[in-house]
Amino acid sequence: MEDKPTELKYMDESLQGTALSGDDERGDRKLYIESYGCQMNFSDSEIVASILAKEGFGTTRNVEEADLVLLNTCSIRDKAEQTVRKRLSSFNKLKDSRPELKIGVLGCMAERLKDKFLDEEKLVDLVVGPDAYRDLPNLVEKVEGGRKAVNVLLSKEETYADVSPVRIDSNGVSAFISITRGCDNMCTFCVVPFTRGRERSRNPETILAEAKELEARGFKEITLLGQNVDSYLWYGGGLKKDFDKASDAAKATAVNFANLLELVAEAVPGMRIRFSTSNPQDMTDEVLHAIAKHNNICKYIHLPVQSGSSRILKLMNRGHNREEYFNLIDRIRKIIPDCGISHDMIAGFPTETEEDHQDTLSLMKYVRYDFGYMFYYSERPNTYAERKMEDDVDMETKKRRLNEIIALQGEHALERAQEHVGRVEEILIEGNSKRSDSDWKGRNTQNTMVVFPKTGTEKPGDFVKVKITDCTSATLLGERVQD
Ligand code: SAH
Ligand code: F3S
Repeated sequence: MEDKPTELKYMDESLQGTALSGDDERGDRKLYIESYGCQMNFSDSEIVASILAKEGFGTTRNVEEADLVLLNTCSIRDKAEQTVRKRLSSFNKLKDSRPELKIGVLGCMAERLKDKFLDEEKLVDLVVGPDAYRDLPNLVEKVEGGRKAVNVLLSKEETYADVSPVRIDSNGVSAFISITRGCDNMCTFCVVPFTRGRERSRNPETILAEAKELEARGFKEITLLGQNVDSYLWYGGGLKKDFDKASDAAKATAVNFANLLELVAEAVPGMRIRFSTSNPQDMTDEVLHAIAKHNNICKYIHLPVQSGSSRILKLMNRGHNREEYFNLIDRIRKIIPDCGISHDMIAGFPTETEEDHQDTLSLMKYVRYDFGYMFYYSERPNTYAERKMEDDVDMETKKRRLNEIIALQGEHALERAQEHVGRVEEILIEGNSKRSDSDWKGRNTQNTMVVFPKTGTEKPGDFVKVKITDCTSATLLGERVQD
């Protein structure tokens, strides 16, 4: 049996930082970088490591021997920001004993707080927003000269398309490729459009080149990343919102997400393709058919819904109501039978009543999600909800509703897991199981973790057939069978 239940684990996803795990001895100076929050931040840290490698920085997993410490931060909920602040204060002692050590903050908190960070946290030398990482060499030079440095400019074009990420936080099997940056959706609770700027897509040629490079290096799975991947649209560069102004020729040759998925699936037929995150309002049947058509595109969709109440969805500016979401779920089930589906849910959005909460539970019962990431509402500065609505659901009620959502999800996860028992499934081996070195862990196409005993003839990166014999709500247990 593996780990804690997935849904509980992900509830705390931004509460613990993860350091890049590999040591890269090449550099004469040492970079220690820790990432918080979403997968995009983990991917961005690999881009940052690549940019700084060119400046002679090797990475280390030992903060004590670092010359430069960077925290890639998350602002999505208040708790995530508090965690970063606590971590920063833990560096005080380190800096007392080694005044030459430089400390920088990257990511969404950097963008949100800008130079205020320097006043609020005296030990911070460097503040860099998500679109300004190319400027790191200059900024680092400045802080090494004894000054403080800030760059939080957001960009219309930056996608880091030509930066080849250093895959040091990697199991050698799976890797992220970022395909869009920013988000235009303006969900009223969400800070991301403010911290990551307007939505723009990356040149598909550079995405395909990165996929092929990963394949050549032995990777077996890629996850295409963006805040809203279904909204991907390449028409030669520039913001998504400016597409209407593009020339007819650019429009005629534009590449949308369904096109991109197919291009990637065909370019690297031996690799598994995953993607995250899908926004219900932007998911098209064309995308669903592309998934159904290609064996190597995983049958799994992360489809955040946030609430089951049409009234709340409207207040959240989610762009769809409950019925439209059900309709999308029905189409997924029809076009991709056996597709894994997961969700994000927020309990206690402003004005949420008991009836709205019951709508959330009944929506979950309709879908019966494989797993989910569940949160209580956290008011974020400058969002529409913060400016125009009162955070009027008390904490006790938020937590009670959240617990009810988590409990129901636990039941559904177990039911869904049980459906796999007795089947033979293809598993991509990722590495040793956390519990035992004599077991492998890997995932099936639906993204459920599978644990099974080693037989001595397989290794990480292999696709093997496993007969599922038992399960918990988060993990399938099985035995390898011959192909
Ligand atoms: N489209 C994005 C969503 C980013 S935020 C993606 O790529 O995943 C991830 C999740 O955090 C959201 O789906 C939402 O469920 C949750 N979230 C965002 N803002 C929040 C807030 N103010 N309070 C509580 N949860 C929030
Ligand atoms: Fe946030 Fe909504 Fe975009 S949750 S990241 S504004 S899709």
